[in-house]
Amino acid sequence: MRNLINIMDLSAEEIDELIKLANDIIKSPDRYNEACRHKILATLFFEPSTRTRLSFESAMLSLGGSVLGFSEANSSSAAKGESVADTIEVVSGYADIIAMRHPKEGAPIVASSHTSVPIINAGDGGHFHPTQTLTDLMTIYHEKGGFENLTIGLCGDLKFGRTVHSLIGAMSRYKGVKFVLISPEELKLPSFVKQEYIKDKGIEYSQCTSLEDVIGDLDILYMTRVQRERFFNEEDYLRLKDSYILTADKLKSAGESLSILHPLPRVNEISTEIDNDPRACYFRQAHFGRYIRMALIMKLLEVSA
Ligand code: NCD
Repeated sequence: MRNLINIMDLSAEEIDELIKLANDIIKSPDRYNEACRHKILATLFFEPSTRTRLSFESAMLSLGGSVLGFSEANSSSAAKGESVADTIEVVSGYADIIAMRHPKEGAPIVASSHTSVPIINAGDGGHFHPTQTLTDLMTIYHEKGGFENLTIGLCGDLKFGRTVHSLIGAMSRYKGVKFVLISPEELKLPSFVKQEYIKDKGIEYSQCTSLEDVIGDLDILYMTRVQRERFFNEEDYLRLKDSYILTADKLKSAGESLSILHPLPRVNEISTEIDNDPRACYFRQAHFGRYIRMALIMKLLEVSA
């Protein structure tokens, strides 16, 4: 039994295989529509979600399986004080695989020691979000044809943005990758990510506060939302929330082959005026989420078409 807690649980070769499988699912969906017949996915979401939960559910339904679960902590026994360990112990008797989102960093690790079925981390606090990274990687693969020699700008809330942390880990394994970290001083990349995935690996990187200064150097621009729910006080959030707004005007200094990604939801950080620009990939990116999660579920359940 395999879990996906951290994107580094998958080797680069396994990621290639998942993308290949997801591409084949897009090409021939009918071949896969019974692959998970009689299997049940539980989606346990202790935090809000649209894309992650619904794409997991859509993925399992598209594989011929069934889904059950809850979409907020308040409608589960967590509201009565039940521990994650107990919830998982019980749900693992009702489902064959579990996707879980929780506000506490490390909760999926606790969960994985209380279950006999695979656990997928669908986001743990300000820590990691490996399945968003699979979606991001599939998008990058489609845009650029591979992962090497890319200059990747990550912009916005690099401190609390769990998608950023997982993406940096994943991309740090490819040759010739450079990171450009763009954030306000208060929202800089935390040292647990910077040390392990950038410095210890000797990867080239730079840090700055101005998006305009660097946008012309980037192959990929990964925009992020300021993570309001992780702030200790509203005043700081209000001061920082509009630090970066990507507009058509700012895009004028970007290259023609730039790919703009965003895990979504967006608030203000990308103006809707650029949604139809061919460089804007974020809606295509969200759609890939369904297919790469189909591939992941098949891998963890060890089923084939
Ligand atoms: C992200 C998340 O939950 O971390 N959303 C998602 O899963 N697509 C990003 C965010 O909420 O800003």
